[in-house]
Amino acid sequence: MRPRGASRSLSDVTTRKIIIDTDPGQDDAIAILLALASPELEVLGITCVAGNVPLPLTTRNALLLCELADRGDVPVFAGCARPMIRPLVTAEEVHGKTGLDGPEWDEPRLALQQAHAVDWMIDTLLGASDGEVTICPIGPLTNVALALVREPRIVPKIAQIVTMGGGYFVGGNVTPAAEFNVYVDPHAADIVYRSGVPIVTMPLDVTHRALMSHEWITQLAAIGTEVGRKAAQMLAFYERFDMERYGSKGGPVHDPATIAFLLEPGLYGGKDVHVAVETASPLTMGMTVVDYWGRGGEDPNCRWMTEVDADGFFDLMLERLALL
Ligand code: BDR
Ligand code: CA
Repeated sequence: MRPRGASRSLSDVTTRKIIIDTDPGQDDAIAILLALASPELEVLGITCVAGNVPLPLTTRNALLLCELADRGDVPVFAGCARPMIRPLVTAEEVHGKTGLDGPEWDEPRLALQQAHAVDWMIDTLLGASDGEVTICPIGPLTNVALALVREPRIVPKIAQIVTMGGGYFVGGNVTPAAEFNVYVDPHAADIVYRSGVPIVTMPLDVTHRALMSHEWITQLAAIGTEVGRKAAQMLAFYERFDMERYGSKGGPVHDPATIAFLLEPGLYGGKDVHVAVETASPLTMGMTVVDYWGRGGEDPNCRWMTEVDADGFFDLMLERLALL
């Protein structure tokens, strides 16, 4: 494992406040665990949305993950049960029936918060200082878009939106043109990309450049904790679909790229570009149209990542998950 953060002690770090908006999902699970393991991040709450599986399962899964990390103090909220305009599309073929297939899970003992995720997000942001909170959406963008529409005064409160979604150079993973999170709610993604909030995007272009190896999953299991075992079981189940689809030796693990970027931005490289979302064409619905070469004349609205230090990313996850 490569030495990292040598001059920085984990007990002496300034924390960054984040909200994770999610549809767990095994890769969401790793993102959540990575955040909960990292003292640089204060997870104010986890807001759930329908996506990989329907909302009752994404909320259940978020509670299970807080329980696994022994973090009953992190509030979990249920958000939108369907996209803004289109019918919900789910991805059980990738994630299994529960969304977290792989390990055996009991039902969660932790309970959901009463408030709706969008209400809580708005209240939390209105109570924050300007630029105090970062939002990490790692599922369809329905909750975040709804919050932005309902209460535009939250815009200056958000330091950044660091999101996983979209694809340009590698195309889509649901249709030839569209990536899952944007495809499921393209109208929400359109609102977010037009919001004026600084955005960092981890698209398929970057997540496909860091593929899991069998050895790495074995190392995860060898941590010897419940978190290590369950993470390894989840990822072994999860990667089977992509290995078959792409004929590769390992699959991408998309969502933790957002948290890894917050922890170690130097792991990633990208470019400031303008991104527009297709919301009309049946052929390219949900496509992220990236003006990579500045042909459209619009100002950049996001940093689009394309490069990653893959070894550094896998080392970071291993190192942090071992802390739980
Ligand atoms: C994204 O779609 C979901 O299936 C994953 O959890 C990830 O957020 C990858 O396209
Ligand atoms: Ca996800």
